[in-house]
Amino acid sequence: MNVLIIGSGGREHAFAMQLRKSSACDHLFILPGNAGTAVLGTNVALNPNDFDALGNFCLQNTIELLIVGPEDPLVNGLRDYFEATTALKNIAFVGPDKTGAQMEGSKDWSKIFMQKHGIPTAAYRTFTSENLQEGIAYLQNHSLPIVLKADGLAAGKGVLICQTQEEAIHELQLMINEKKFGSASTKVVVEEFLKGIELSVFVLCDGKNYLILPSAKDYKRIGEADAGLNTGGMGAISPLPFADAAYIQKVEERIIKPTIDGLQKDQINYIGFIFIGLMNVNGEPFVIEYNSRMGDPETEVVLPRIQNDFVELMMATAKGNLDKVQLEIDPRTAATIMLVSQGYPEAYEKGKVMTGMENVKDSILFHAGTKLGENGELLSNGGRVMAVTSFGNSIAEAIATCNKNAALVQFENKYYRRDIGFEFL
Ligand code: AMP
Ligand code: GLY
Repeated sequence: MNVLIIGSGGREHAFAMQLRKSSACDHLFILPGNAGTAVLGTNVALNPNDFDALGNFCLQNTIELLIVGPEDPLVNGLRDYFEATTALKNIAFVGPDKTGAQMEGSKDWSKIFMQKHGIPTAAYRTFTSENLQEGIAYLQNHSLPIVLKADGLAAGKGVLICQTQEEAIHELQLMINEKKFGSASTKVVVEEFLKGIELSVFVLCDGKNYLILPSAKDYKRIGEADAGLNTGGMGAISPLPFADAAYIQKVEERIIKPTIDGLQKDQINYIGFIFIGLMNVNGEPFVIEYNSRMGDPETEVVLPRIQNDFVELMMATAKGNLDKVQLEIDPRTAATIMLVSQGYPEAYEKGKVMTGMENVKDSILFHAGTKLGENGELLSNGGRVMAVTSFGNSIAEAIATCNKNAALVQFENKYYRRDIGFEFL
């Protein structure tokens, strides 16, 4: 069958690699894709939010399976568009509808959902211009630090952790009155700070059945020892030493089952990935956020561990047959290190020539921000440029291979963290 992946990052390159391994995958298209996906299929230069163009492309190319990587086409209602269009509605589609994507698209919506269904999460209140004065008074007596979250999508930048009440009040005013995050901060969730170790749990849901995928930890800060600005993610490992079967069972009972049951009670036909961002507070899991997609770079360690035929797994998800699937997981540890452009997550240069990839042994290179130059040379084309993923019998072993190979890929102003997994070594 012909398969279309939407997106252009390391996550989508990892999807493409898994799909390519399946004999059921004929033509593979990636929209818009990157230089890595171009080797595995055909990149399509269309805007994922131009639904008419996307629909026509699917018809012209007899797409039978569509997998959506990023959140915004989902939040904008891509699935709803396909369901409402006679010629498109039979395409197997992995990704929730507009309502389901509110899990990620609105922090306030997801907090109400969690509260309604008894899912452990930080205490919170939501404020808008209508009750801003009440919000200021609320912050004056709030324990420190204080977490402020723009309600809507803010490209991963909408969460502020404030160390004083004054800072929190100032930021709340900026978010609501000055639209610090545009319309995303018309509403602001004020949340209790949770102290612990973060982990990401991924669930594949077919509307009624679910499978728990391997869990992972993402290293979000730009600097070593978790210092500096937040990024999209600088590296990841899977599995985590503390997230053993007993811990995952606790997460399943307290969080995953109530989430799936809650979606059903609320009549949300959720078909796709649910990314649950958890804080492990003294052994007890709390939800920090839901995302309606896979994580990046978590996908670059989670997917390589999945040994099932990926077309079959995605078709079972889209068609409601996950109860017939048994996951086969590689027991080894996978680690990934993200090579980024100096300056990221702030201003950085693109278009740097990349070399040395042919010297890499025992790692998988997932392209994130790359493109082909006019003479077929590989160029950097983003802040996050390439993920170097390796397996090992321990975190130390996997990371050592990543570090060895991260040094071999060359481009001007390359930067990467050499301490991914540090707290477990
Ligand atoms: P998000 O954009 O929701 O992923 O949040 C960004 C980061 O803020 C998370 O990865 C956490 O490190 C941190 N964070 C979010 N909510 C909380 C919270 N309630 N307590 C502590 N840290 C938080
Ligand atoms: N790595 C975090 C995310 O994908 O949101």
